[in-house]
Amino acid sequence: LHVAVLMGGWSAEREVSLSSGAGVAEACESLGYRVTRIDMGRDVAAKLTEAAPDVVFNALHGTPGEDGSVQGMLDLMGLKYTHSGLATSVIAIDKQLTKLLLVPAGIPMPGGRIVKSASLYAGDPLPRPYVLKPVNEGSSVGVAIVTTEGNYGNPIARTTPGPWAEFEELLAEPYIRGRELTTAVLGDVALGVTELRPKTGWYDYQSKYTDGMTEHIFPAAIPDEITAACQRIARDAHRLLGCKGTSRSDFRWDDEAGLEGLFLLEVNTQPGMTPLSLVPEQARHCGISYPELVQNIIEEALQ
Ligand code: DAL
Ligand code: MG
Repeated sequence: LHVAVLMGGWSAEREVSLSSGAGVAEACESLGYRVTRIDMGRDVAAKLTEAAPDVVFNALHGTPGEDGSVQGMLDLMGLKYTHSGLATSVIAIDKQLTKLLLVPAGIPMPGGRIVKSASLYAGDPLPRPYVLKPVNEGSSVGVAIVTTEGNYGNPIARTTPGPWAEFEELLAEPYIRGRELTTAVLGDVALGVTELRPKTGWYDYQSKYTDGMTEHIFPAAIPDEITAACQRIARDAHRLLGCKGTSRSDFRWDDEAGLEGLFLLEVNTQPGMTPLSLVPEQARHCGISYPELVQNIIEEALQ
């Protein structure tokens, strides 16, 4: 089997994708597959035509790569590829579009609204504490938590531009106190629930990708009904969005509010495959090695 591993690209998560892609390519080699590594540039279609792989492992994260653009190109080229297809990717990369689809189907997600970042100079869009995030980035790139202590001054951005400054529009959501949880779905099975406990601050880019900065607790020490709810919601969201291969649903849980305090934040259709990433870790806890995980994802793409 000849697998082209598509990685890198030019999204804000380029480095994360290079790490995912390196792990995937190595696993493919250990499985005896022939591997072509492709760092995506504007000439990616030419490189894929030349390689003529049996299947493309899409190890890209963010925009472009996780947003439907690359999926559309691969569809037109008639190449099989891993993970979700075009329509699913377009919806799931956009945190607000995802809500429009999932909330009417009964999935609990925080209310939120899109604001122009320029409007933040005039004042807070929501009562504090709240979260500002780009609608279509990953790995917490550009995310800010605006607290009541006023970490950015008031009006928030007048004196200290936050990490949102480079984005024209942002999603503002109420901040949910409590715990950070995540559930991987592989095929059609929700694997379990991991709790992330950053040693300092919140689970931002640095805490995600610096070894030792976050404690990963599996299985999360939470009530059975919360574990079951995370698994049900992650599986339902995966199905409703039409995800393929694997996805990872990220949650906040206000542990003072019981089941009512559980909210899905987003569904990641190209979850990280780095040494500190959560899908491979959850799979390992469930007896699925990293190469087996890669093999499962590739086999679903070949069906
Ligand atoms: N956006 C990163 C890659 C993740 O969800 O794991
Ligand atoms: Mg994400």
